[in-house]
Amino acid sequence: MVKSKLRTVRGTLLVPDPIRRTLAKQDDVVIDIDADGTIRSIDDADAHPSVPPTWPGTVILPGFVDTHIHFPQTRILGSASGPLLDWLQEAVFPEEARFAELRYARSVAAQFCEAMLRQGTTSAGIFSSSHPGATDELFVALDDWGLRAQAGLTLMNRGAPADVLLATEPALEAAEALIARWHGHDRDRLRFCVTPRFALSCDHALMRGAADLAERHGLFVQTHLSENDEELRQTAAAFPDHADYLAVYEDYGFVGKRSIFAHCIHLSDSEWQRMAQARAGVAHCPDSNFFLGSGCMPLARALGHGARVGLGTDMGAGRTFSLQRVASAAYDATLVRGEAVSDGETVTPESLLWLATRGGAVALGFGDRVGCLAPGYEADLVAIDVPEDLPDDRLYDALLFRHDTAAVRATVVRGRLCWSREAPATGP
Ligand code: GUN
Ligand code: FE
Repeated sequence: MVKSKLRTVRGTLLVPDPIRRTLAKQDDVVIDIDADGTIRSIDDADAHPSVPPTWPGTVILPGFVDTHIHFPQTRILGSASGPLLDWLQEAVFPEEARFAELRYARSVAAQFCEAMLRQGTTSAGIFSSSHPGATDELFVALDDWGLRAQAGLTLMNRGAPADVLLATEPALEAAEALIARWHGHDRDRLRFCVTPRFALSCDHALMRGAADLAERHGLFVQTHLSENDEELRQTAAAFPDHADYLAVYEDYGFVGKRSIFAHCIHLSDSEWQRMAQARAGVAHCPDSNFFLGSGCMPLARALGHGARVGLGTDMGAGRTFSLQRVASAAYDATLVRGEAVSDGETVTPESLLWLATRGGAVALGFGDRVGCLAPGYEADLVAIDVPEDLPDDRLYDALLFRHDTAAVRATVVRGRLCWSREAPATGP
């Protein structure tokens, strides 16, 4: 764990527009960071002749935002036993059962946090297991490693082996205790998030209790939506009175500007319209979708509807902690669908980098403080190697598609160096 405080950073920046899906390059500037980790100013480096380049040969972006990831799947990453429901039974539930043991949870939590920081992730939306103790260990590790996150106890009281289920009452009591201990911790760096696994894993009482928690504490809700054909079939059978999958979540008041839904592959036009109208977030997880054979979310169509989209690794169905790889997979997914252009929206490497940074920050509700580099935003940064002599018009391509060379050099959250391949030059 590194965690030295940086007060100045010099380098070339890629700065996302707060609203439009574009980035602007600022060559050789100095970011001045205050003691709280907030950006005070960004000036031309000429004005600071004594500050050396912090990470020469890199470009600096706001840290990546992973809008959807599963802490207790760290050790089963790459278990090829899809499709979704088979994979949950064979690979996921047996592993998640191990998180009943605190020592195990503690050691995986450290690996999990380091793996995110190593790939330049500074903020994440995280599913824990259904174990309160493991979830507390996750928060402890997030706090220690300096990450920004919203994380939740995974709520599930049916549809899985008993050792990963938690009944409604103890689950809601544990959630209250975790909220009291962690929600808003360290000037709101950590937040508790209400996390029903998906409709099939929660009965009516648990869904109602989850909705009540979210309402009373003003919390975000995260869950899975419309990922896999068989999941859709079983959900329709379990909720015969609902017009579609989204309607199940709407019924509990889960669909609003404080909610984020992973996958959204098979939504109808009506569901997309309602998602956009409600300002709900979408965690687009294309690498996971390829690995489980779930399908390809229509990204351009989603953006055309005005949906708030971020990118998610969905690790362990996703095979990587790297948002660069996920952005690359998102590009592939639009080509596979033949929908790189739809409704006047074009999916480009530049717009995907925006989704991986600013888009994710907005979708997770951190948009007022991160996902952009300007005075007043907190200094969450990632420095990434760029090949020498790269023409400017190939920069986005290189960051997304040159998997062997565009490596993360350093990761900073709120001005703290949380991970680095080497010690930075800090200057006088
Ligand atoms: N749906 C319900 N649980 C899960 C999970 O752990 N991963 C994915 N990808 N989909 C899910
Ligand atoms: Fe998931």
